Amino acid sequence: MFYEPKKKNHGLPQNPFNSLIIPRPIGWISSTDKTGVRNLAPYSFFNAVSYSPPTVMFSGGVGSAADGLKDSVRNIESMGEFVCNLATWDTREKMNKSSEALPPDCDEISLSGLTAIPSKLVNAPRIKEAPVHLECRYLKSVEIPGWTEADAYRVIFGEVVGIHIDDEFITEEGLVDVMKMLVIGRLGYNDYTRVDGESLFSMGRPG
Ligand SMILES: Cc1cc2nc3c(=O)[nH]c(=O)nc-3n(C[C@H](O)[C@H](O)[C@H](O)COP(=O)(O)O)c2cc1C
Repeated sequence: MFYEPKKKNHGLPQNPFNSLIIPRPIGWISSTDKTGVRNLAPYSFFNAVSYSPPTVMFSGGVGSAADGLKDSVRNIESMGEFVCNLATWDTREKMNKSSEALPPDCDEISLSGLTAIPSKLVNAPRIKEAPVHLECRYLKSVEIPGWTEADAYRVIFGEVVGIHIDDEFITEEGLVDVMKMLVIGRLGYNDYTRVDGESLFSMGRPG
């Protein structure tokens, strides 16, 4: 089949786009607002974009607050910091719960039944239950105009200035034990995948 996204002529019951760029890593973003209210939300328009300095991005759509921003985007642009927590099989339900649209003054970490712990270099908290935390300093935002105002996205870039890895997930050889962490990724629709011993394979690079 072939379709042109703008014409929406795929003829399928649901937009298939989300099922084609998969699996997507989930940036589980913690931040605080100006008054110290803690916020947490998953973003699967998320990825690493460079090594030195290590840089990550996520993309937020239109939020339900009066300014049209998602809380994470507003917090990061005003406070200049955030943390990316790694979502795993064990925290999948709480990750999903933290995607609920709630008013900006709700502490989404406590409401999701998770534990906030202090970061080392930034004021945004980390999620204790996550095996990896990337402490980030805000770099810049890039607007992605939508076909309508309701489709607009804002991409947030951040430099990773501190990285925590739970020692339990470092092997004797000094590798990150991704099979043990059971990281989850986003597929299309309401589907997810899990990195485990069954799904992992290795290949050397040519040359
Ligand atoms: C797995 C998952 C991935 C998501 N990815 C995104 C995303 O990339 N961009 C986005 O705008 N919303 C995404 N959402 C929805 C947000 O998590 C949701 O709108 C949330 O309420 C935003 O919270 P905030 O306003 O506290 O930042 C995702 C939800 C889930 C469950």
